[in-house]
Amino acid sequence: MQKLILAIESSCDETAAAVYGSDAGVLSNELFSQIDLHAKYGGVVPEIASRSHIEKINPIVQQALDKAGVALEDIETFAVTQRPGLPGSLLIGVSFAKALAGALNKNIIGVNHLEGHVFSACIENDIPFPFICLTASGGHTALYYVTGFGDYQVIGQTTDDAAGEAFDKVAKLIGLPYPGGPVIEKLAAQVDFEDFFNYPRLKNHTTLDFSFSGLKTAVLYDLVKKDLYNLKDKKFLAHGDVHLQQQVASSLLVCIGDIFERTIERAFKQHPEAKALAFVGGVACNSYLKNRFKDTMAKRKKEFYFPSPRYCTDNAAMIAFVANYKAQKNEYSDLSLDIY
Ligand code: KG4
Ligand code: ZN
Repeated sequence: MQKLILAIESSCDETAAAVYGSDAGVLSNELFSQIDLHAKYGGVVPEIASRSHIEKINPIVQQALDKAGVALEDIETFAVTQRPGLPGSLLIGVSFAKALAGALNKNIIGVNHLEGHVFSACIENDIPFPFICLTASGGHTALYYVTGFGDYQVIGQTTDDAAGEAFDKVAKLIGLPYPGGPVIEKLAAQVDFEDFFNYPRLKNHTTLDFSFSGLKTAVLYDLVKKDLYNLKDKKFLAHGDVHLQQQVASSLLVCIGDIFERTIERAFKQHPEAKALAFVGGVACNSYLKNRFKDTMAKRKKEFYFPSPRYCTDNAAMIAFVANYKAQKNEYSDLSLDIY
């Protein structure tokens, strides 16, 4: 008989729960997104996030069970994101999962959120090992060399901001709503992804690390130079100038695409045996970037994979997926499970 896992993800601003069957795979994947609660602040407010998790965790877990058509008692293992994330947010998911596992005398498995993202493209695809994985979200941007389920190492990472953060911060700078990524992609498409401003690309870059905070500053100072931003009052002076917003959005997206592409090229030069590229995390919703990577990989005769959008942004199915192979390897946690 197949074994059922109920996974909970509450590391940032999404309250998520999923039911996963060892044979059937994802049976439900439910989520409450707090985006509207944080939008007016231009980013996630930790205190608001934890309060919302408390309100939503019970109904979302129930929703995941109902959608899967299973009862709480049918669950054999409870899985939960244990790290990394906002402490107050993580604590709610971990406490909830521990309470369930303790009260029902069932297994518990703590999962690393980043491992969830790394293997999220494997939920729907059989990706050949070894592969290189680019994770890009609002909180993290890194390259991994992946040799098996649960076997992976970081080969490059951002030294400052995450890529999603660059989209979000530049969006805020030019009067666009949070999250910035989707709206920047939409505006850039309207001007055919043309590069108007040629933002800096770290020409002599030789490592597999990323840096995005300089890019945000470059955008800012370019606007200041053009008298479109008042530094003293921190005010964008061209509100409603859609043409300018399109030009900034498009130039930013092309620049980030170049930075990613060059770093991916270097990663494959260092690891020529890697068979595929996986692109995961919230930024992997971006079709322009996916199309570019698809072409690059085709030229290199490598395979290219990415998850459906519902598995790109934070979700509990990816946590359940990791817990499933951990359960098969007998890698259980116990009730001393803590957050990091
Ligand atoms: O994975 P995620 O939901 O949460 C984190 O773990 O951070 O990623 C959210 C990030 C945000 O920064 C958002 O701007 C970005 O993903 N994002 C995108 C797109 N959709 C979401 N970035 C670029 N293009 C998109 N279409
Ligand atoms: Zn994430």
